[in-house]
Amino acid sequence: MTRRAVIAGIGHYLPERIVENAEFEATLDTSDEWIRSRSGIERRHFAAEGETTSNMATKAAQNALADAGMTADDIDAIVVATSTADLTFPSAATMVQAQLGMTKGFAFDVQAVCAGFVYALSNANALVASGQADKVLVIGAETFSKIMDWTDRSTCVLFGDGAGALVLEAQEGAGTSDDRGILATDLNSDGRFKDLLYVDGGVSTQNTGHLRMQGNQVFRHAVEKLASTAHTSLERAGLGADDVDWIVPHQANIRIIQGTAKKMGLPMDKVVVTVQDHGNTSAASIPLALSVGKARGQIKQGDLIVTEAIGGGLAWGSVVLRW
Ligand code: UT7
Repeated sequence: MTRRAVIAGIGHYLPERIVENAEFEATLDTSDEWIRSRSGIERRHFAAEGETTSNMATKAAQNALADAGMTADDIDAIVVATSTADLTFPSAATMVQAQLGMTKGFAFDVQAVCAGFVYALSNANALVASGQADKVLVIGAETFSKIMDWTDRSTCVLFGDGAGALVLEAQEGAGTSDDRGILATDLNSDGRFKDLLYVDGGVSTQNTGHLRMQGNQVFRHAVEKLASTAHTSLERAGLGADDVDWIVPHQANIRIIQGTAKKMGLPMDKVVVTVQDHGNTSAASIPLALSVGKARGQIKQGDLIVTEAIGGGLAWGSVVLRW
């Protein structure tokens, strides 16, 4: 028998304010047509004044707990993937812990930018597999609207805010690829590519900073690295692309999503796409897409899912799981 981290529940939260592409036309030399055709994005949500990453993460977590039929008291650990925590410290995860009313267990953040959720899921899986935790909340939550340079049309039209959460629960499996739960993971980074995507400030530089991106350079790395990491995870699980029911990719750009599916030899009707409605929500994008994909009736119990993401670092990776 093998201890598996099985998805017991999922939920998400999106801030109320929706901003359509056309709104940017008033202040920037851009157009709805350019944003749609280059990125696939049509609208995104922005957090309200005073609405923070931990507030959104908590709402997503409450929805995931309700879906799992659990309460916060059942949870042993919280892992939050974010690059936009409320404060420098403590972690957003401990703030979520308090907001959920949890007085036991442990909580910490994982910071791998847009790849944050696959990093968090992989680490949470290791906690479950090693017996350090039985039930783990894994959350991706971001307020990228707070680090935008609103005069930079090449970045500020691409990102949005939101949060998604899932509950992992330890279950015994047979040790085969037919088991439910996380079957394989693959994580990578290469810090030589820092200048392609970064925030030009931080605590030790005494400046919050803004997101800077050489979008077309990141694009060049994305399709190849995403298809490669998905292939590695599938191989580790003893599976191939033909076994995949759904790719649930990081939602940065529809052309990257299409290119990766094509490189994997899979049609777009096997891909969950939410980029048109959410924009790029960094570490929140995969749990948001999983939650929306389930709500749409696309993802069903027993489906084989590959998630993959790449972002600042560069950091990238993938997780293969059976729902
Ligand atoms: O989630 C983390 C990982 N991030 C990503 O995966 C993002 C990866 N990159 C991308 O999604 C795409 O590269 C972008 C959507 C950012 C840009 O698309 P692109 O096809 O690579 O365009 P480009 O950067 O090569 O720019 C083409 C043109 C430029 O004008 P010139 O130099 O050709 O005259 C830009 O100045 O488009 C211009 N441009 C815009 N025009 C209208 C850039 N932003 C805008 C804009 N509106 N908002």
